[in-house]
Amino acid sequence: MSAGAGRGAGHGTVVARAPAKVNAQLQVGPLREDGFHDLRTVYLAVSLFDTVTVRPDDRLSLTVSGEGSGADGGPATVPTDSGNLAWRAAELLAQHAGVAAHAAIDIAKSIPAAAGLAGGSADAAAALVALDSLWGTRATRADLAGLAAELGSDVPFSLVGGVALGTGRGEQLSPVLARRRSDWVLGIAGEGLSTPRVYAELDRLRAAGHARVHDAAGRCDAVITALHGGPTEALAAALGNDLQAPALSLRPDLQRALRAAEEAGARRALVSGSGPTVAALVDDEDAAVRVAAELAGAGVFRTVRAVHGPVPGARLVG
Ligand code: C5P
Repeated sequence: MSAGAGRGAGHGTVVARAPAKVNAQLQVGPLREDGFHDLRTVYLAVSLFDTVTVRPDDRLSLTVSGEGSGADGGPATVPTDSGNLAWRAAELLAQHAGVAAHAAIDIAKSIPAAAGLAGGSADAAAALVALDSLWGTRATRADLAGLAAELGSDVPFSLVGGVALGTGRGEQLSPVLARRRSDWVLGIAGEGLSTPRVYAELDRLRAAGHARVHDAAGRCDAVITALHGGPTEALAAALGNDLQAPALSLRPDLQRALRAAEEAGARRALVSGSGPTVAALVDDEDAAVRVAAELAGAGVFRTVRAVHGPVPGARLVG
């Protein structure tokens, strides 16, 4: 199937959006020779989206609005050049398809940068889908998945969304049929954390004997079962993240944020991916609204968002 079939190839403006993710379980193996770690993770796509709009132009350009753009008075942390994963997605797709990488890309960001929510990966995935349509490259989903894996470990999941088991460095996906809706409150801290820094801190903690390599395969299976159906308690008990210890080591104040989320009524709070976002699992949509309101008033987070999952991956909109 062509990912961009019937979308007015070659003309006009194309809009795509892609979701944030949380890792409901994230098991990190030892450091590999290529600088990555082998993972076993359960990805869950949640209802916080970045929107990527592309239009024809005679060169490649990129603008950003919203989170990390600097427009809200905060620092402009999202690059608008080849340092942006969406820019690299454009170059890679153009190379793959043998077309000129010419487009004006605009990213409206709701997903904060360097937050452990795969915001940059979402932008790359949405850019692949939008540009495939704009340029009429007719890439298959399999083609796009291959390009996505070259761009970053989380980009393939941003394309497919839903729930998936990730292995390898996270880019090898087995989709999981998970009908159960789960509600979450995301507590977003003021300043981002660099992913490589958090992995390096995990290696340091392990070398010093302060963290262990957990290799129990059953941890992901328990989350998958709980995401399929059953009470929130079962899902809460199955959540886990090996990157939480290093994120807390780098940001000890996150411990207070995790506690605040559980005191506000979350069943369980954990660090999302490499952090510093806190993902707090709640019973239902009403609880999400209540917990979000309480946490917004507690002053421990810059932004608080009530979200739910699973939601689809990168899609054309409009
Ligand atoms: O693939 P991605 O560009 O997102 O990875 C960013 C960095 O995170 C890598 O350079 C590596 O330091 C770390 N990483 C890792 N093991 C993984 C995924 C990422 O060590 N499985």
